[in-house]
Amino acid sequence: MCGIIGYVGPRPVIPVLLEGLRRLEYRGYDSAGVAVLAEGQIDVIRALGKLINLEEILASYHKKPEGIGLGHTRWATHGEPAERNAHPHGDCKQELVVVHNGIIENYHHLRASLEAKGHKFRSQTDTEVIPHLIEEELTKGHSLEEAVRRALAQVEGSYAIGVFWAKDPKKLIAARNQSPLVLGLGEGENFLASDIPALLPWTRKVLFLEDGEMAIITCEECKIFKLHDASPVEREPVEIKWDAAMAEKAGFKHFMLKEIYEQPQAILNTFRGRLDPETGQVKIPEIILSPEEIKSLNKICILACGTSYHAGLVGKYLFERLVRLPVEVELGSEFRYRDFLIDENTLVIPISQSGETADTLASLRRAREAGARAVAICNVLGSTITRESDGTIYTHAGPEIGVASTKAFTSQLTALLLLVLYFGEIRGTLSEKERKRIAKALLKVPYQLEKLIEKLHPDIKELSYQYQKKRHFLYLGRNILFPIALEGALKLKEISYIHAEGYAAGEMKHGPIALIDEEMPVVALAPQNHHVYEKMISNIEEVRSRKGNIFSLGTEGDGTLKRVSQHVLELPACDWEVSPIIYTVPLQLLAYEVAVRRGCDVDQPRNLAKSVTVE
Ligand code: F6R
Repeated sequence: MCGIIGYVGPRPVIPVLLEGLRRLEYRGYDSAGVAVLAEGQIDVIRALGKLINLEEILASYHKKPEGIGLGHTRWATHGEPAERNAHPHGDCKQELVVVHNGIIENYHHLRASLEAKGHKFRSQTDTEVIPHLIEEELTKGHSLEEAVRRALAQVEGSYAIGVFWAKDPKKLIAARNQSPLVLGLGEGENFLASDIPALLPWTRKVLFLEDGEMAIITCEECKIFKLHDASPVEREPVEIKWDAAMAEKAGFKHFMLKEIYEQPQAILNTFRGRLDPETGQVKIPEIILSPEEIKSLNKICILACGTSYHAGLVGKYLFERLVRLPVEVELGSEFRYRDFLIDENTLVIPISQSGETADTLASLRRAREAGARAVAICNVLGSTITRESDGTIYTHAGPEIGVASTKAFTSQLTALLLLVLYFGEIRGTLSEKERKRIAKALLKVPYQLEKLIEKLHPDIKELSYQYQKKRHFLYLGRNILFPIALEGALKLKEISYIHAEGYAAGEMKHGPIALIDEEMPVVALAPQNHHVYEKMISNIEEVRSRKGNIFSLGTEGDGTLKRVSQHVLELPACDWEVSPIIYTVPLQLLAYEVAVRRGCDVDQPRNLAKSVTVE
């Protein structure tokens, strides 16, 4: 969590930092701050709450700072959201400043020993030990880079940091361990940031810093070194294809809505070039595994959190039916502390939009230690999870800025289906006819979604007026749509703050049915061609007979569903394999419209952050 930005170059520094922070605000917005160098001293300007509060304060900052600075947007871990806990943090003399994303696990011990040496702390944060440790090393006569290196050798935990020092004012130092950091390369200027979108207004040439590395960043160059022995590292820059406009709202009121509308394109981008429209064959050379290795697998273990976990649950239904391989789907936060049973014939699939989720990453590391191969499904190029996997299937969804995941999820479902088609062919579990049928169904999805959004969005907006005041929702699905019920409920609760639960419809009678009364909206997913359709109708009848308010999603023209529901959203007929994608989108729109009616901040819901890089 937290976003950091740094700049060194000839531009006015404050606008660069603010623009970068605006693009990183999805990572946290408990407070924001910048540090700049003006008239030979470091000025730190910070504000509680969103970036706009900092912008207001900076509007009356009239000094002309030099071309170097750091910025930070915070998601609180240690120390309440408060101005004094906002970054940047400085040393005793305020000659040195640090911005940090991550958690310093041994900060209690470090702080106590620094305080014993006379250091005065101003905040409750774990971060503040870093500038004081560096200060200690500087007083021993080390250069800034050496002082940072020696300070970090004492630190346990995760960090991406940016540092600058008033006495060596032409350079920034960056370092990373288990938190993301990317360097942006310009002409006569250079940048550092937690994530690529923050760099896109100025450059598309980037260098990814790896764990255990630091960089010295000046106007002229970025030099990378190993933290443990200061040995130099050679690395080629990567060209990012996204342009700045791709990361903008493009006229939509919210990023989330823009991203919902981008799904047809994101899905198309994910299968384009990989799926042969004629033969239904899939090519995914990125996954590295040979056909022999794919044949020798005896289990798949999917690791993920939140929405990505729901994609993994859909993957289980797909793999088990079409590839005949057992699949375990594990929450990262559980798996990492469990006594799991995996070996070198297990394929681990970490699924992550950001590629930085701490629990997914830690689980991946444990699984790899146990000998498993790993193929990630991820949206962010060069992110840590991709670098720690044998191969990666990138979902080409483009940057996802809204905190609630939308287009990344349906792109993950697309990538899973591609993998299933690929494995199914190699392992001989899918006939050519079946493969062609599924490929045809997937090829149709972008067009079906475009039409569906156009047709249903106005109806959903209208219906949201009736549902905005409800206090609880139930979402019901069976089989491959059970994970979509979970996802629909998660979307609603995270952006509208309405309590919602997803249930396997058959589980209703084992408890949740006691909740049903005329006040309880029940969103039921009931496509007519699913083999569990009749069962779903019976479950809906059970709710109806207890006066529940049924809001169904089903197949166009289904008279039975209309008869048993108060409201029906009619969706195009689609094959079982792609139905999770089709049924997700109206649920995203429902959550969005209800949240907007309730006046919620849909792009930055309270207490959340886009990328959960702490445990
Ligand atoms: C919900 C949401 C989160 C993420 C979860 C994992 O809308 O976005 O539940 O899905 O934090 O994040 P990634 O996919 O980046 O690993």
